[in-house]
Amino acid sequence: MKPQARVTVVGSTNMDMVVHVPKTPLPGETILGSDFLRFPGGKGANQAVAAARAGAKVSFVGAVGADELGEKARASLIAEGIDVSGVMVTAEGASGVALIFVDESGQNSIAVAPGANALLTPEHIKRQRALIERSDVVVLQLEIPITTVEEAARLAHEAGIPVVLDPAPAQPLPDALLRNVSVLTPNLLEAGQLVGLDTENPDTPERAAQQLSQLGCESVIVTLGDEGAFWARPTGNLRCPGHPVRAVDTTGAGDVFSGALAAELGRGRPDREALAFANSAAGLSVQHRGAQTSAPRRHEIEAALAATTGRALGDD
Ligand code: RIB
Repeated sequence: MKPQARVTVVGSTNMDMVVHVPKTPLPGETILGSDFLRFPGGKGANQAVAAARAGAKVSFVGAVGADELGEKARASLIAEGIDVSGVMVTAEGASGVALIFVDESGQNSIAVAPGANALLTPEHIKRQRALIERSDVVVLQLEIPITTVEEAARLAHEAGIPVVLDPAPAQPLPDALLRNVSVLTPNLLEAGQLVGLDTENPDTPERAAQQLSQLGCESVIVTLGDEGAFWARPTGNLRCPGHPVRAVDTTGAGDVFSGALAAELGRGRPDREALAFANSAAGLSVQHRGAQTSAPRRHEIEAALAATTGRALGDD
């Protein structure tokens, strides 16, 4: 096993504007919430920070506006030791912003103004080809144009680099993209939406994962929050048990899962252990506020894993 994976994340960066509320407001309703909080976020940048804190050497490819929020987004990545040479700074659009409500159970509702994220083109990705080809794993999500995601996946796949794709926010996925994906990591809601299955049905994680695998990606992990995760693989399914925790803020838990997973798969850790590691990382992240701010560090994840020894993975 390598000591450290080289992970390249291609994706979004936002500034998260957060209010904690007793419950999510209904249409037409006004609710008094907590003080206003501001955190660096964006699914791509969150994955990058999670992978870096999990121990990987990370490069981030994305786009920010030539404005104060873009400068802050770049600074927070640099502070985590992440290479931002692939971040485009554009005067054509403002930096991405996410408006987030977090309710008393830690669940969130998010609306994103993508701004510069929407201006990240396949041509920019082509210019980052060398970076992609030097990686052990490439990590993607869907807050940038789908054609750009497709180009990054294509370049990685052609170079034999595994691709982890978190299909969030959920949208129809072209078959050509899925064929270039090694590990698709939807949560249960996204998995149900992608294949049209009812998420209340207890068989849905397995059925959705199998159906998504048949669409062309190599394997599918359905994340189940505090109920763990299910991984459908050609070499056999894996199931990871959940670790019930008191969730304060679930924002970014899926990003932490895929970033931590990539950090471990990229250094050659066996699938079973990498899955448990990612699951523990996500479980730790929901116990703190914010997205990037809540991503745990490697020693914290390993300590949490050690504390749950005896509840390790089982073959399905
Ligand atoms: O997954 C959480 C992220 O979604 C937030 O950080 C927000 O920026 C949105 O992109």
